[in-house]
Amino acid sequence: MKILMTGGAGYIGSHTLVELLNENHEITVVDNLSNSKIESIKRVKVITGKDLIFKQIDLCDINGLEKVFQEKSYEAVIHFAGLKAVGESVQKPLLYYYNNITGTINLCRMMTKYDVKNIVFSSSATVYGNPVSVPITEDFPINTVNPYGTTKYIIEMILKDIQIADQSWNVLVLRYFNPVGAHESGLIGEDPNGIPNNLMPYISQVAVGRLPYLNIYGNDYPTKDGTGIRDYIHVVDLAKGHLKALDKLPKKPGYCIYNLGTGKGYSVYDMVNTFEKWSQCKIPYKIVGRRDGDIAECYADPGKANRELGWEAKLNLDDMCRDTWNWQNSNPNGYPD
Ligand code: NAD
Ligand code: UD1
Repeated sequence: MKILMTGGAGYIGSHTLVELLNENHEITVVDNLSNSKIESIKRVKVITGKDLIFKQIDLCDINGLEKVFQEKSYEAVIHFAGLKAVGESVQKPLLYYYNNITGTINLCRMMTKYDVKNIVFSSSATVYGNPVSVPITEDFPINTVNPYGTTKYIIEMILKDIQIADQSWNVLVLRYFNPVGAHESGLIGEDPNGIPNNLMPYISQVAVGRLPYLNIYGNDYPTKDGTGIRDYIHVVDLAKGHLKALDKLPKKPGYCIYNLGTGKGYSVYDMVNTFEKWSQCKIPYKIVGRRDGDIAECYADPGKANRELGWEAKLNLDDMCRDTWNWQNSNPNGYPD
């Protein structure tokens, strides 16, 4: 399939590129490199031995984006591009609303103009906020608690309305749980800017000595060991979910939402202990207060994706920790500049 991928130089995009190229899809990537490096694209080419077209363009630059649609035709768009740091979105809400929503509106305008009506969109479990119970199904109430999460929900609504107005559109919304891990080659992985916000990159940077210790945000949650429980999913499983989503498009699914998670919850201590096992490094930690906006427990019911996409996560917590360590240990400072 001829695919336009936005945000393809990023963490999830680069892993999805590997899976798509391995299946011989023809890809054009658009990314402004605001949160990624071109090195990830070079390494995707090394891993797969395949080529792709890369355009350094901001989705907010509609003229630049239009050229990408003029130069080539596409059968589907996979839309990863967006800013994703929760704390930064609270500090800079306008930046988040502008970048994520204007970028998506520009993309959809060009898709309409050039008759590309299939899109797979990266949403997040963050749209569920603090769930009333677990596991979470796709019909749970939406409750966004920060501008980042709100941008995801607004984009879901924009795509839904576009599909209602023109039923020849197919919109697959994938709500990711907590992506972690890296490609088994150790050549690509997560390379956050500055001090990581998320648990797994924080642990792995402590392991390689870039950070002195982990802060555990609370051990007084009503969970098995008092720490927060999340549904960590290997990024390669997540990437494969996009292949299954593409397979669904010819069946004209209309507008559909799918949770992509494993259905299993692990605590912060589970993550630390398993990471120590694979890295053979002690992860020193301090218990500190709860982080604002954090919830006790969050994990998916991935049954709908299993039934309707034929997808399920295959890799386990050992795979996630082993591959994260392999990436971080081979690239202690992430991608070179
Ligand atoms: P990432 O930051 O590594 O990748 C996003 C890419 O989009 C980056 O390469 C960035 O340079 C690019 N980008 C941002 N704004 C752009 C713009 N205006 N124009 C062009 N390119 C732009 O993030 P990721 O972890 O790979 O996440 C991919 C998508 O999945 C994002 O939409 C994110 O919100 C969503 N998501 C991520 C997670 C997670 O934990 N990583 C969880 C749920 C959902
Ligand atoms: C965070 C975001 C969420 C986003 C998700 C995936 C917040 C409040 N939420 O969720 O919107 O969709 O990432 O990108 O930022 N933890 C520590 N120490 C750390 C980091 C995390 O103890 O240094 C704990 C957290 O309290 C939590 C667990 O580890 O219990 C996972 O945290 P994290 O990786 O940030 O993911 P989420 O909290 O699920």
